[in-house]
Amino acid sequence: MLPKVRKAVIPAAGFGTRFLPISKAVPKEMLPLVDKPVIQYVVEEAVASGITDLLIVISRSKRAIEEHFHPIHELEAELEAKGRTEDLTTLRQMQSMARIHYIWQPKMGGLGDAILYARDHVGAEPFAVLLGDTVVTTGDPSRPVTRQLADLVETHGGSAVALQQVPEEKVSRYGILGGQEIAPGVIRATQFVEKPRPEEAPSRLAVSARYVLSPAIFAHLEKTPKGKGGELQLTDAMASLMKEEALHGLRYEGQRHDIGNKLDFIKANLHFALQHPDLREAIQAHLRTLVS
Ligand code: G1P
Repeated sequence: MLPKVRKAVIPAAGFGTRFLPISKAVPKEMLPLVDKPVIQYVVEEAVASGITDLLIVISRSKRAIEEHFHPIHELEAELEAKGRTEDLTTLRQMQSMARIHYIWQPKMGGLGDAILYARDHVGAEPFAVLLGDTVVTTGDPSRPVTRQLADLVETHGGSAVALQQVPEEKVSRYGILGGQEIAPGVIRATQFVEKPRPEEAPSRLAVSARYVLSPAIFAHLEKTPKGKGGELQLTDAMASLMKEEALHGLRYEGQRHDIGNKLDFIKANLHFALQHPDLREAIQAHLRTLVS
C-alpha cells in the first residue's frame, strides 16, 4: 500500500516585494483576510486535508508567524479572568490544530531552495507543499485541493500539482504543465516549464500554489541548476523527477486567492467578507453606496 500524506511544508520566507512597504516588517502571510491571517487559512486547509505535521519555512522579519500559532499564557489567563470563553476556545483550537515546526531559509534562493531546507524534516515520505501567500477555496469545503492531490498520490504514487487554466498573456507568470488527460481533470504530465514565453508554453494549465511531492524530489533539487531569475526552481526539479516517476496535474474546481499583491489582496478580502454571515449585508450595502 502506498504511504499516506501526513506532512506539509509551507514556504513563507519570501520578501513580498510586490506588497511593499507593508511587507517590510509585516510578513505578507500575516495580512488579514477579515479576521484571520492568510497563513491560518493555509494551515487550516492542510489540517482539513489530513496533515498532522507542518514545517513553515521562514526568514528574517517573519517571526510574527511563529507567535501567531504559539500559546501566550498571560493572554489566555486574562481571557479566562474576563470570562471571554469563546475567544479562548478559538485561540486554543487554532494553537492545537497540528504540530507546527519552523526552519529558517537564510538566503532567498527560490522556491526549490526553500523546499530543500525541509529535507531532514520530511524524510522518506510524500509531503504536501502549500504556498503560504495563497488561499485556495473549493466548492466543497470537505475536499480541499491538498486532499484531492493527496488522494491522487496515495492512489498512483509519484507527485501531483494543482492546475488552473490561465489566459495566454499570463502563462509567463507560472509553472506550465503539458500532458494527456487520463481522467476528467487529471493530466499525466509529459512537460513542465517554469514561466515560459506564450509561444513556448505546452498549454495554458498553470500550477496553482499546491503540490504533493514524492520524497525523491530532494535528490533532483540537489542536482538542478539555477533556473528562471537565477533561482533554484521547484518546477525544474519536478521536470527532472518526471522522467523517473509519475507526475499528475489536477485541474480543480475552485478559486485561488494570491494575496502577495495589492489588487488580489483587496479582492480576497471582499470575497471573504461577503461570505461572512455577520458582515455580508453591511458590506453589500457599503459597496452599493461606494459605486453609486
Ligand atoms: C511559484 C512557482 C510557479 C507557480 C506559482 C504559483 O512562482 O515557481 O511555478 O505557478 O508559484 O503557484 P512565484 O509566484 O513564486 O513566482
